[in-house]
Amino acid sequence: MLADSILQYQQRVDTQLKSYLDPLDDHASQLKSAMTYGALIGGKRIRPFLVYSVGQMLGVPLSQLDACAAAIECIHAYSLIHDDLPAMDDDALRRGKPTVHIAFDEATAILAGDALQTLAFEILSQPISGMAATQQLQLMSALAKASGYTGMCGGQAIDLGCTGKHIDLQTLTQLHNKKTGALIHCAVEMALICANADKDIRHALLSYADAIGLAFQVQDDILDITATTEELGKPQGSDSEADKSTFPQLLGLDGATATAEQLIQDALSALTALPYNSQLIADFAQYIITRRI
Ligand code: IPE
Ligand code: IPE
Ligand code: MG
Ligand code: MG
Ligand code: MG
Repeated sequence: MLADSILQYQQRVDTQLKSYLDPLDDHASQLKSAMTYGALIGGKRIRPFLVYSVGQMLGVPLSQLDACAAAIECIHAYSLIHDDLPAMDDDALRRGKPTVHIAFDEATAILAGDALQTLAFEILSQPISGMAATQQLQLMSALAKASGYTGMCGGQAIDLGCTGKHIDLQTLTQLHNKKTGALIHCAVEMALICANADKDIRHALLSYADAIGLAFQVQDDILDITATTEELGKPQGSDSEADKSTFPQLLGLDGATATAEQLIQDALSALTALPYNSQLIADFAQYIITRRI
């Protein structure tokens, strides 16, 4: 059931992404190829999964969720392209393939990230059938905040600033909440905006999102140690090689695992307040900490 849904939503968002990238004309064909490579080759599509699964649970038609799913994946793809650059994590492998700056060149990778970022907002600015213009403005605002200084970019800056330093658990938690949690929060928030959800539903589902968002990055840190490069499709041991601040580095592997498990229990508790069948997103919460990629 979960595996089927993951696959179905992966295929759906990939079709959406292709529908925006393929028609771009060829005036900068290398840039277009790099954008397509960075956005379409692999990826678990967990943020689109959350947009679709939470939106569907709340009764939103899938066709009204497509733009959000594609837009948030464009932001995520851009964040990975830039995260791998020599000035950031300097990684050569992503999703089992050479990173964009290796497959193309550094300048093209920077521009591909930039252009995917703006494509996200172009997608959300096009009329969505059945959606009010004010809702679309809320979607753009939520995605902008989650991506920029208050969210992902701010988290990436803290990450770089903390590299090679000892930081406390509070700082590390803030770092992870921003660099990874903010976009996961935003995926759920977008579904809530599309559904015009009320305060209680928002509170429960955003608590769920925040718990799985932090757990997702804790598990990413754990996998950097426990998985193989082949499983991950990105270089194992990249964090320790760069002397990154991570949960296992601060709490040990057992401590990090216990933290991730507790966060998933918190996420599941938040779901009990909902008047919907939340089995699919409950199963997804478990998947966050059992995944090997
Ligand atoms: C990796 O994200 C970067 C983090 C935020 C931890 P994902 O694990 O979602 O990467 P893909 O999209 O599946 O490759
Ligand atoms: C990346 O965190 C978070 C982003 C905003 C892209 P990591 O640097 O841990 O992600 P990976 O391990 O390279 O995928
Ligand atoms: Mg990084
Ligand atoms: Mg990285
Ligand atoms: Mg990582």
